[in-house]
Amino acid sequence: FNSPPPAPKYCRLVFFVCCFFFFFFFFKTICFSPGLVFLLSTLSLPSPAKFTVTPLCCPSRSSILTGRYPHNHEVRNNSLSGNCSSPLWQKGPEAEAFPIYLSKNKYQTFFAGKYLNQYGKKDAGDVDHVPPGWDQWHALVGNSQYYNYTLSVNGKEEKHGDSYEKDYLTDLILNRSLHFLDDRSPQHPFFLLLSPPAPHSPWTAAPQYQKEFSNVKAPRDGSFNKPGKDKHWLLRQPVNPMSNTSLTFLDNAYRKRWQTLLSVDDMVEILVKKLESIKELDNTYIFYMSDNGYHTGQFSLPIDKRQLYEFDIRIPLMVRGPGIKPNQTLQAPVLNIDLAPTILDISGVNLSLVNVDGQSFLSQMAPSLRNGTARPLFLIEYNGEGQPTTDPACPKLGPGLSQCFPDCVCEDAYNNTYACVRTLDRQQNLQYCEFADSESFVEVYNLTSDPHQLENIVKKVDPAILQVMNQRLIKLQSCVGDSCRDINFYPGVWWSRYFTLSIDGNVCKEPF
Ligand SMILES: *[C@@H]1O[C@H](CO)[C@@H](O)[C@H](O)[C@H]1NC(C)=O
Ligand SMILES: *[C@@H]1O[C@H](CO)[C@@H](O)[C@H](O)[C@H]1NC(C)=O
Ligand SMILES: *[C@@H]1O[C@H](CO)[C@@H](O)[C@H](O)[C@H]1NC(C)=O
Ligand SMILES: *[C@@H]1O[C@H](CO)[C@@H](O)[C@H](O)[C@H]1NC(C)=O
Ligand SMILES: *[C@@H]1O[C@H](CO)[C@@H](O)[C@H](O)[C@H]1NC(C)=O
Ligand SMILES: *[C@@H]1O[C@H](CO)[C@@H](O)[C@H](O)[C@H]1NC(C)=O
Ligand SMILES: *[C@@H]1O[C@H](CO)[C@@H](O)[C@H](O)[C@H]1NC(C)=O
Ligand SMILES: *[C@@H]1O[C@H](CO)[C@@H](O)[C@H](O)[C@H]1NC(C)=O
Ligand SMILES: *[C@@H]1O[C@H](CO)[C@@H](O)[C@H](O)[C@H]1NC(C)=O
Ligand SMILES: *[C@@H]1O[C@H](CO)[C@@H](O)[C@H](O)[C@H]1NC(C)=O
Repeated sequence: FNSPPPAPKYCRLVFFVCCFFFFFFFFKTICFSPGLVFLLSTLSLPSPAKFTVTPLCCPSRSSILTGRYPHNHEVRNNSLSGNCSSPLWQKGPEAEAFPIYLSKNKYQTFFAGKYLNQYGKKDAGDVDHVPPGWDQWHALVGNSQYYNYTLSVNGKEEKHGDSYEKDYLTDLILNRSLHFLDDRSPQHPFFLLLSPPAPHSPWTAAPQYQKEFSNVKAPRDGSFNKPGKDKHWLLRQPVNPMSNTSLTFLDNAYRKRWQTLLSVDDMVEILVKKLESIKELDNTYIFYMSDNGYHTGQFSLPIDKRQLYEFDIRIPLMVRGPGIKPNQTLQAPVLNIDLAPTILDISGVNLSLVNVDGQSFLSQMAPSLRNGTARPLFLIEYNGEGQPTTDPACPKLGPGLSQCFPDCVCEDAYNNTYACVRTLDRQQNLQYCEFADSESFVEVYNLTSDPHQLENIVKKVDPAILQVMNQRLIKLQSCVGDSCRDINFYPGVWWSRYFTLSIDGNVCKEPF
């Protein structure tokens, strides 16, 4: 592959986010679409090194939109009081998010689907609030639903019922995006962000898919149904081995999540065909990703995200587009805060004028330009969510906890608040995490020898390593812009050069 990618100015971009997509599997249409690039990662890691810097919907989506770590966009959780779609977010970070720059560069912009969990609610400016930068806006009010939802359509309320033909949200997002493509002006580039709630709960599959995957169960590997006894307080609570009720529950959830994704598959296929028929496929970048990872049974936690482990912080990310060689895998870690700078880089925005913590990976994807250095360390930060009162369904559990189902296993708590530094270079693949709880709990994993994080090595590891990791963490937690990327800031780490892995034979494996 010899030629550099074409001048990025007039490229079209399509971008999908879907919530909570379990990263182990890829989907039928994706596998059959030629030319997809799989951004996989460093060292001997068998799976892709693509991370969210925080494993919860609203903070993660805010990071995707702004290119910033949570400590800089200040969206702490999914509540309005934690800045999810709050008036302060609207006045501050949202007014500097990437769509504004696209709009200034004459992009025709389109959004449809789930935006931020509190979006459109009364105290969040109602449906009238349309974030700046969007020409066409079809956003879900509140959190994930498939039927019986309300949309803000360019600031006007639109209510929907539960007729599959008229209301099924995944299909509606697709249909509106097709109209947008028909109505656009061919003189200007376009950008679409399609954000189906699938495969988020309540996992309502389209009628034709409700019987699919009937024999599929959650994979029983890695840390599945293992006790988390050397881990932080919350991970020492679940009953181990798990009850049959929990196993049945999580298998059912796993299956239904897959079913809902079949409509997302259809969406991708139809949209790619549409781009082909309007002769735009060859100059369009397509990104496919999710905002979080997900677990089903790992360390005996039934279902959710919110934990520091690989299953929750890794996300899928696939890209195709001009200048990108098919089927390549990148070794460098890519973070959700890198999406905004990458999109702006493609659209020709001068990144030194944009306030982001992430970095563009455009030149990494184009092999002829790849000559850079890989980010050797990054931050994961999370604020635990709790409830001020005891859950009446689980009276034995005191206040301060949340997500206590099934079997009263709680998946989150106020003191499930942590920050981690991840070092990932040719020498090391280490994770170091500190909790803001009454034990000031510390977890350390050597991902090279222990990819499933079964053993917390805090008591075994050289104290000098702990000290260096602690210092890096403190610096990262207050980094802004350049200082989040500049390694001269973090003594003792070296950039490693990017290099391409060969084609990953596992990419198109079927789930069963
Ligand atoms: C919400 O964001 C604003 C700035 O946008 C910040 O001043 C405030 O402290 C944040 N609130 C929380 C709870 O972090
Ligand atoms: C939608 O709302 C109607 C009226 O409340 C209800 O009967 C129906 O079961 C709901 N459908 C779904 C899929 O929740
Ligand atoms: C989407 O469009 C297709 C084809 O026109 C139609 O059959 C389907 O009912 C539409 N679905 C929704 C939810 O609008
Ligand atoms: C749980 O399920 C397993 C396998 O289906 C069965 O052998 C076991 O008896 C069940 N345990 C209980 C307590 O029902
Ligand atoms: C980007 O902006 C910086 C700061 O204003 C400027 O020094 C640089 O020349 C600009 N780069 C390009 C390619 O325009
Ligand atoms: C890559 O980096 C080397 C050393 O810094 C330089 O000599 C070479 O020209 C660069 N190649 C490209 C394609 O930028
Ligand atoms: C979200 O964050 C705010 C500010 O820190 C806090 O007051 C609120 O209790 C949090 N919400 C939950 C559900 O934990
Ligand atoms: C975490 O919070 C819960 C609920 O408030 C409490 O019971 C538990 O002792 C706390 N654990 C630690 C280690 O702080
Ligand atoms: C991590 O594991 C690898 C492989 O076993 C080993 O070479 C390395 O020294 C370990 N690192 C630490 C910090 O324990
Ligand atoms: C990409 O890799 C898959 C699996 O290895 C293979 O089936 C497919 O033909 C490759 N596609 C291209 C365009 O090279």
